[in-house]
Parts: sequence; structure tokens; C-alpha cells
Amino acid sequence: MSKLSLIGLTKAFGSTKAVDGVNLTLREGEFVSLLGPSGCGKTTTLRMIAGFIKPTSGTIEMEGQVMSSPAMMVPPERRGMSMIFQSYAIWPNMTVGQNVAFGLKLRKLPNAEVEQRVNRILEVVQMRHLKERYPSELSGGQQQRVALARAIVIEPQVLLLDEPLSNLDANLREEMRSEIRRLHDAFRITTVYVTHDQAEAMVTSDRIVVMNLGKIDQVDDPVTLYGKPKTRFVAGFIGRTNFLDGRVDGSQIVFPGFTVPKALAPDANELSGLASFSVRPQSIALHASPPAAGHLWRIQGEIVERAYLGEYWEYVIRPDGSEQRIRVSTAPNVVHAVDDRVWLEIDPARIARVPPPDAA
Ligand SMILES: Nc1ncnc2c1ncn2[C@@H]1O[C@H](COP(=O)(O)OP(=O)(O)O)[C@@H](O)[C@H]1O
Ligand SMILES: [Mg+2]
Repeated sequence: MSKLSLIGLTKAFGSTKAVDGVNLTLREGEFVSLLGPSGCGKTTTLRMIAGFIKPTSGTIEMEGQVMSSPAMMVPPERRGMSMIFQSYAIWPNMTVGQNVAFGLKLRKLPNAEVEQRVNRILEVVQMRHLKERYPSELSGGQQQRVALARAIVIEPQVLLLDEPLSNLDANLREEMRSEIRRLHDAFRITTVYVTHDQAEAMVTSDRIVVMNLGKIDQVDDPVTLYGKPKTRFVAGFIGRTNFLDGRVDGSQIVFPGFTVPKALAPDANELSGLASFSVRPQSIALHASPPAAGHLWRIQGEIVERAYLGEYWEYVIRPDGSEQRIRVSTAPNVVHAVDDRVWLEIDPARIARVPPPDAA
């Protein structure tokens, strides 16, 4: 059975729809991220799930029971959910152990069980040795671990996290996002995680919901989302990409500066008129001499820019007779100079069809 369902969920503030007809179903134990730029409606969606905001229309159901609708609201404290905010408030006058034990004591669990559950979760978040410390004696990352432990130890039906790592510095963020996934693997609590950081979403999530202007653009697992984005927005938001915009002409697709047999394009049978594609910089091979003709796209051009980033080279190639700039990332040992003539080779399996530029 589905754990949590958002059905036609909408929230208007005055004339702006912060959340606009969102449909989403989470399975029991699933970790789902809401990902999108600032202002796209992530927090509003999460706060509706938590029960702090009443939907303008639509419903939220947990295990088939209505939690929220314009007519009815189950109060936040009766939803069995835990929420963690960006500014993780843990109680400054309690030790780590007391902070984590608090929710269990509130539920009047026997002392021995409280002790055992607190110790286990502190073990998992690697804070067992700091159990007697006060929050002022902890780093930001350690405080966030306490906040996570405190939210999870009560074993909520659903865990809600709103940009929980955004106050941490970059290294710690990277460490904590893996930690969050590890915690999820240990406790399997159904989780909705809000972030504007695509790497965070990819590391933590079973599925990612990409939101744009209050609507869902695409819901998929990280591999599918990255490899087969369905819109230009998703393609550009999840990592870097090249858009190749062409036009079907008989059995060919004509792009500025090169032509590709239509049969080599994804969804070849559905193509007519304008045809657009998204190709990741690292999905393109770079050669100094013409590769043999085969089932790959071949583009001839010239290197116009290059940059060495240590872990990879970043080249910009201009196909002959065009102004298009195609970005290509290669391994550090693939070295070409600016003005070198090169051939690009692209496997159609690594190309995603996207709508043409002017289509919504
Ligand atoms: N209480 C509110 N009153 C009016 N507008 C709001 C309120 N909360 C959010 N909004 C607007 O709704 C949109 C979505 O906001 P929010 O859900 O916070 O986005 P996100 O979390 O994705 O950054 C924004 O345009 C924001 O300005
Ligand atoms: Mg927000």
C-alpha cells in the first residue's frame, strides 16, 4: 500500500500558486527528494504534508486516511511525523543524550528501553562518545546529527527534512548527506527531503521529484533523471548539459553545422519538424582523427576553448560552419589544443530527447 499520497495538491497565496496540482505517491520506506530552485514550492509542499498549512485544494492521505483537505486537517502532532528544519533547534540546556531521549520520555517509554534506543541511534550517528556534552560544546555537524537522531529515535511514520544541511560548510555537507542515506538504510523511515542541491538529492534519494514553478516536471530515480531528462529545465538543473536543436529533413536531422541520420536519434519514429536533444559533456567522446562510420553520431569541429580541472578536461568545440558551442569533458589524459580539429562521437543511447526551445 502507498504510505503517503499527495492528490491534486495546490496552495495559493493570493493570486500566486506556490504549489500547483501536485500528484505524488510514496511507498513505505521510500526516500524521496523534492528538488528545485528557490521559490518553486518545496517548503510549502513539505509544510502541507506536516500539517502546518492547509491546502487550497487537493488532499493528502497517509495509508489511505485523509490527513489534509480544504475541509479537514489532522493536527501536526497527530500525524506521526517528525520534521527537521534548516535551523536545527536542539535544546541548549540538555545534553546530547537528554535531547535524544526527550521524545521517548514524552511517550512514557520504560527507562531501560529509552536508554537502549538512545544508545543505538547515537551509535549510528557516531555521537555515542559525546552523549554527556551540551550543544554549545558541539560543532554544527554534530548538532545536526543530534537533531537527526532526535527526529528518528521516535520512529515516526514519516520523516520530513527541509534543507537540513544548508547551514553547514561544504565538506561537512558532503559527509552528512551520506550519513543521512546511511541512517535511512538503517531505519527505513519513509522520508521527504527538500533541497535545492542536486548532488544532495542524488546521493540520498530513491526517487527525485523535480519541481519548477509549483509543478512537478519529472519524478524518477537518480540514474533515469540524469540520463533521460524529459524537459529542458530538468536537463539543465540536474547537472550540466548541451542542447542540440535541429530540424527533421527527410531521413536526416539537420543541426547548425552537422547532420545526423534520423534513424540514429532516440524516438526516431516520433520525430518531425523541430527536434531537440540533451547530451551531457561527459557523454561525448573526442577524437583527433575521424572515427569509423557506425551507429554513433559524428560531428566535426574545432576546439575553441579548454580548461584543465585536474580531475578532467573541459573543452568547448564549435562544429564546422556553426556558432554552436558544445561542451565536452574528458579524462585528464585526453589532451587537445585550442584550434585543433577534432571529431566528436556520441552514442545515441546517451542522448535524451527534450522539447524544442520554444515549447513549454
Ligand atoms: N506565507 C506566504 N505568503 C505568501 N507567499 C508565500 C508564503 N510562503 C511562500 N510563499 C511563496 O510561495 C512560493 C513558494 O515558496 P516556497 O515553498 O517557500 O519555495 P521553496 O521552498 O521551493 O524555496 C514563493 O514564491 C514564495 O514567495
Ligand atoms: Mg524552502
